[in-house]
Amino acid sequence: MGATVIVGTQWGDEGKGKFTDLLARDMTTVVRFQGGHNAGHTIVVEGESFALQLVPSGVLYDHITPVIGNGVVVDPGVLLKEIAMLESKGVNTSKLRISGNAHLIFPYHQSLDALQERHLGKNKLGTTKRGIGPAYADKSMRTGLRVQDMLDEKIFRQKLEVVLHQLNPVMARVYNKLGFDIDEIAETFVNEYRPKIEPMVTDAIALVHDRLEAGDEILLEGAQATFLDLDHGTYPYVTSSNPTAGGACVGSGVGPRYIDRVVGVAKAYITRVGAGPFPTELFDDVGEHLVDVGHEYGTNTGRRRRPGYFDCVMMRYARRVNSLSELGITKLDVLDDLDSIKVCVAYEHEGERLEDFPYHQTVLHNVTPIYETLPGWKTDLTSATDRSELPTAALDYLTFIEEQCGMPVGLVGVGPGRKQVLDFQA
Ligand code: GDP
Ligand code: IMO
Ligand code: MG
Repeated sequence: MGATVIVGTQWGDEGKGKFTDLLARDMTTVVRFQGGHNAGHTIVVEGESFALQLVPSGVLYDHITPVIGNGVVVDPGVLLKEIAMLESKGVNTSKLRISGNAHLIFPYHQSLDALQERHLGKNKLGTTKRGIGPAYADKSMRTGLRVQDMLDEKIFRQKLEVVLHQLNPVMARVYNKLGFDIDEIAETFVNEYRPKIEPMVTDAIALVHDRLEAGDEILLEGAQATFLDLDHGTYPYVTSSNPTAGGACVGSGVGPRYIDRVVGVAKAYITRVGAGPFPTELFDDVGEHLVDVGHEYGTNTGRRRRPGYFDCVMMRYARRVNSLSELGITKLDVLDDLDSIKVCVAYEHEGERLEDFPYHQTVLHNVTPIYETLPGWKTDLTSATDRSELPTAALDYLTFIEEQCGMPVGLVGVGPGRKQVLDFQA
């Protein structure tokens, strides 16, 4: 037994939460390995919807130990609210564990995120303004505070003082804003949050490896997606962590030889929130239709998601950088009413056909998608429970994707509900 990794293959919101919940059925442990509360993972069980930001999507099962890994950036206030929300809905969160090495998000990270976006003006990235970038920047600068630092007030204050000594003059002189008060932050983090967070803090490496050595299969849950990856995405329009499969190793402490399956989650079309290039973006009625039928508004920011056609060039790249073993396709049902469906199979750039995703930003910004048009199925798929119930045109759409992207489709979502999934490998 080993580890299964779930990653997003597009620009996020592919349905990673739903597939994590599904696969967690047969696991003991689910580790979130990067990102923070910029994520919004939705699980719908018997009509009830759970929107998770920090708590791993396996939490709905009593048998799962959900772990927030070292690669995650944690705002403890948000985490505590999420736990309270889950408990109020009858979910038992007592098994939740947090790596003591996960970094903390402070109010100044959130302020800096908003200020930096404002200063970028028309070049802004469209971040979630949750402080993610500034928190990871502090981690790289080695001035970040970790969850374990909250457990010792003396150390917490010492480290925070170093940060504020540098930050407060910047707030005043660059941004013309008031600085941050160490006593106020210490009061909130040490006095208010610490007693509730401390019982959950653990040595996550020992926990996860004990499980692996006992023969358990564990799940590593990614947030964001391949094209938002700091190294492999459409930089600078990316997030500040590594949502690709390599990030799963770093952010959980599980070495690559344990990973035996990498599931890439993709919508049957594409959406993107925030700024940045998007070759197959739609500005027409089909795009409006996808937004309407797919309810394409951010799970926690409420922003409208930009819609587009499925892009096999992106998917081939995602297959390579994640070593995907299979694709999990969600929202096939959102295409139910379309007469025909376009799929991007290559890009055209200055008369040249590109099969590979261009590494150069200037090229990417100037490509034109080359489409093949497939017939729609004009059938409601939402009650399908088995592959054999899909109309030929829907099966052909999936087969076309498999052939173009060079990997099998394993799971197919035909609705938001936990049961609205077809297992193609069964
Ligand atoms: P994540 O961030 O990757 O976990 O995805 P989100 O939860 O942000 O967005 C996916 C949205 O699609 C959620 O509202 C899900 O409930 C919904 N969803 C997931 N799978 C399906 C599906 O197969 N069909 C439909 N119609 N909705 C789905
Ligand atoms: P899940 O896990 C979709 C996007 C933001 C912005 C960029 C950088 O639900 O798929 P950040 O706040 O991370 O610095 O913003 O990344 N973004 C997401 N888009 N789904 C997400 O998470 C996202 N998390 C960040 O919109 O473009
Ligand atoms: Mg989401």
